[in-house]
Amino acid sequence: MDREKYKDYVEKAKEHFEKLLWEQLERVEKIQKEGDWIDYSKVHPIIIGVAGGDGIGPYITEQAQRVLEFLLKDEIENGKVEFRKIEGLTIENRVKHMQAVPDEVLEEIKKCHVLLKGPTTTPKKGDPWPNIESANVAIRRALDLFANVRPVRVPELGIDWVFFRENTEGAYMLGSRGIKINDELALDFKIITAPGAERIIRLAFEYARKSGRKKVTVVTKANVVKKTDGLFLDIAERVAKDYPEIEWDDWFIDIMSAKLIDPARRSQFDVIVLPNLYGDILTDEAAQIQGGVGTAGSANIGKRYAMFEAIHGTALRMVKEGREKYANPISMIKAGAMMLEHLGFADKARKLNMAIDICNIYERKVVLTGRSDGATGEELANYVMRTLKDPNLEEKWKKYASH
Ligand code: IPM
Ligand code: MG
Repeated sequence: MDREKYKDYVEKAKEHFEKLLWEQLERVEKIQKEGDWIDYSKVHPIIIGVAGGDGIGPYITEQAQRVLEFLLKDEIENGKVEFRKIEGLTIENRVKHMQAVPDEVLEEIKKCHVLLKGPTTTPKKGDPWPNIESANVAIRRALDLFANVRPVRVPELGIDWVFFRENTEGAYMLGSRGIKINDELALDFKIITAPGAERIIRLAFEYARKSGRKKVTVVTKANVVKKTDGLFLDIAERVAKDYPEIEWDDWFIDIMSAKLIDPARRSQFDVIVLPNLYGDILTDEAAQIQGGVGTAGSANIGKRYAMFEAIHGTALRMVKEGREKYANPISMIKAGAMMLEHLGFADKARKLNMAIDICNIYERKVVLTGRSDGATGEELANYVMRTLKDPNLEEKWKKYASH
């Protein structure tokens, strides 16, 4: 081989790699020094930013906001909670600035405590948009939202899972900063840091402890991806020792994705914690078992900020065909329930989850099809609010849930 021919490429790649290493070492120290969790009971007012995003996003987000405003009526009146519209988190504006999240939009988001966010377009090669980075990924990184919490429940199948997907490392951290050496060779980087793994694994175990859950399952591919996944698993082993009352086990991602559809096994999974890309894939599979990715809400949580979103896309075609008002807002309403819980309004969150179950699983008096032969998102939100007003909500839910 004529090494001379590649020398420049290799030198450039080395420089790039060195830069990444320094950045990540700095990041490790930053995580190690980070402060404690924000205490919302002491925050006044709690500012909830609302960004509708693209496609059906603004329509379904509006319906989720209506439901939240209904539940937080007193808190809004007495100034404990404030809703604030965040402008400019649209594909048009992001392309205009050629930024995943334009600086001025990020500034506004940072003035809030939590963000309710509709789906945003993530351009891929071949789309009419330039290939800018995903807004989700950029916000998660900018606000250090390291935990992506995704519950999946199918009561009739005995499924009650809560996924804790690491949200700021893995293959995503440097996903847009790999190296294309030449036309024949490309490299991407996957990173796991010890403090990054520890904070997500600890959060999963803490959650299990606080919510009375029995088991945590750690998912990696540590038999093959030995360094990064190996570190994740080592840290899990160490953290688990602090939670002796909680059972834990570990699975590899391939067999885990099989077991999620194994009726004999799947109801035994409970809390599941895993690195970023595995979490991305497995939570889509899990959501499909629940009825599709459109049915899932997701919380992105950090110590200072948090963002709540749907995990599905923008369904641009629905808007093009004028069907946006028939888009199902249930995933955004579920994200809203997670927000209420995160902010410490546990009772309101519980009620909202019961109303969602009644409207979406048990009673289904308002059914959306995505077309004009079904109900609108607004009608569904009204139905959820009517259900919330029912003084017998809890009894009703218990009756359904026990069948
Ligand atoms: C998700 C989405 C995002 C991700 C995309 C839109 C970048 O799939 O929230 O799971 O990969 O994290
Ligand atoms: Mg995904």
